Amino acid sequence: MTTPEPGDAVLRGALVEALRLKGCLRSPALAEAFGAVPRHLFIPHVAVEEAYRDRHIVTKRLPDGEAISSCSQPYIMAVMLDQLDVRPGHRVLEIGAGTGYNAALLAHLVGAAGRVTTIDIDADTAAAARAHLDSAGVIGVRVICGDQVALGELQAEAGGSLEGPRPGATHLLLTEHRTPAQDCPRRRGEEPRWHLTSPWSC
Ligand SMILES: C[S@@+](CC[C@H](N)C(=O)[O-])C[C@H]1O[C@@H](n2cnc3c(N)ncnc32)[C@H](O)[C@@H]1O
Repeated sequence: MTTPEPGDAVLRGALVEALRLKGCLRSPALAEAFGAVPRHLFIPHVAVEEAYRDRHIVTKRLPDGEAISSCSQPYIMAVMLDQLDVRPGHRVLEIGAGTGYNAALLAHLVGAAGRVTTIDIDADTAAAARAHLDSAGVIGVRVICGDQVALGELQAEAGGSLEGPRPGATHLLLTEHRTPAQDCPRRRGEEPRWHLTSPWSC
């Protein structure tokens, strides 16, 4: 007799516990979001067990093998979301939609009164994010295909002298600071890096 595979809800619970032990799920709302959003529906090409490991999953590579899109490590997402301190009713702009999983976590955190817009430079990736969000039944997320650079210039103009998070402001979450694939930091010999800025009022 074979042992039944654990269902995705059980695997999600184990992921939440693993993140809690790593100290990155300080708010109950964040733990709830990770417990509710089905990560496996955002990375349907991997086994369900794999989807709930605390690991990043590469989702797109250039012909030379360089990874240009991935579903980030849940730990990294938890740290970013914890720092951003997203609350119900907030409006959030995420740069780098990737699979759409992080946008779904954001949608859970902002609730029905909030709004999430996520942007990705890669058309296939943006389309896949839209499809994943729909298959997971996530509502309240707008997916745009576009380049963060124009938005980054606007952010620079804002000069960093912005108020703290408040309802009604748009909170900008830069999940990865990368220019278009052909000019990415690694190609210039630099390490790619992510950072977040909160908030960006508009
Ligand atoms: C690490 S993935 C983001 C993970 C994603 N948040 C998730 O939940 O799966 C980074 C994404 O940023 C996108 N990207 C890279 N440069 C960009 C740019 N200049 N403007 C918009 N998106 C960009 C890539 O196409 C890639 O899908």
